[in-house]
Amino acid sequence: MKIIRAASYQDMSRKAANILSAQVIMKPNCVLGLATGSTPIGTYKQLIEWYEKGDLDFAEVSTVNLDEYRGLSKDDEQSYWHFMHVNLFDHINIDPARVHLPDGTNPDPAAACADYDAVIHDLGGIDLQLLGIGSDGHIAFNEPGAAFELGTHCANLTEDTIEANKRFFARKEDVPRQAYTMGIKTIMQARKILMVANGPKKAAIIKQAFFGPVMPEVPASILQMHPDFTLIGDAEALALI
Ligand code: F6R
Repeated sequence: MKIIRAASYQDMSRKAANILSAQVIMKPNCVLGLATGSTPIGTYKQLIEWYEKGDLDFAEVSTVNLDEYRGLSKDDEQSYWHFMHVNLFDHINIDPARVHLPDGTNPDPAAACADYDAVIHDLGGIDLQLLGIGSDGHIAFNEPGAAFELGTHCANLTEDTIEANKRFFARKEDVPRQAYTMGIKTIMQARKILMVANGPKKAAIIKQAFFGPVMPEVPASILQMHPDFTLIGDAEALALI
């Protein structure tokens, strides 16, 4: 486990974008695992800026996102499909055929999740997975208590996560109660993992997840066991370690 201290949100975003860029430069046809949420938005902005300057080429890159809300279609403005296009894909030269998210509209959870695991498998696995962390320790939608050995599955959102995500919806009732999400096993199989965390709300969980015991009650704690895991945090998120 490597921990990189960033001075600010902008500094964290630049450092994370540097690592993602290095991956794309070293392996132009790499598979990037991507995340939604507010934390990586600055990282995506930085990547777009470097792409516009001509420093980056995404033509051969494939992407797999961590998760998608069950029941939301691609054109739903709250879908992660929409989020990723607005915040990254619409601004870079990624091939639309190489962009992958779980299919939220597939009403059959087992089929939707098996299909997604097959996509990741057929791509040859994830080279670099970007992650955020929930203040309860969740990664993707693997909530506290989620089994470490799960692949992509349908998860029930906890009250904490519904509460945290309601800011993206008109009303709390509109937040979907389920999501198709990569499991901990899927995430741990990525060759490299990069987590970004900022702000005081993440400080306590960062300490617990990376300096406490590894246990399903703190899903992110399993990352201590990954052979190539890097955490980049701003001063506030790393304040307690
Ligand atoms: C995003 C995801 C979530 C977020 C987490 C942190 O695809 O799966 O686990 O990474 O909820 O969200 P933010 O960055 O908004 O604090």
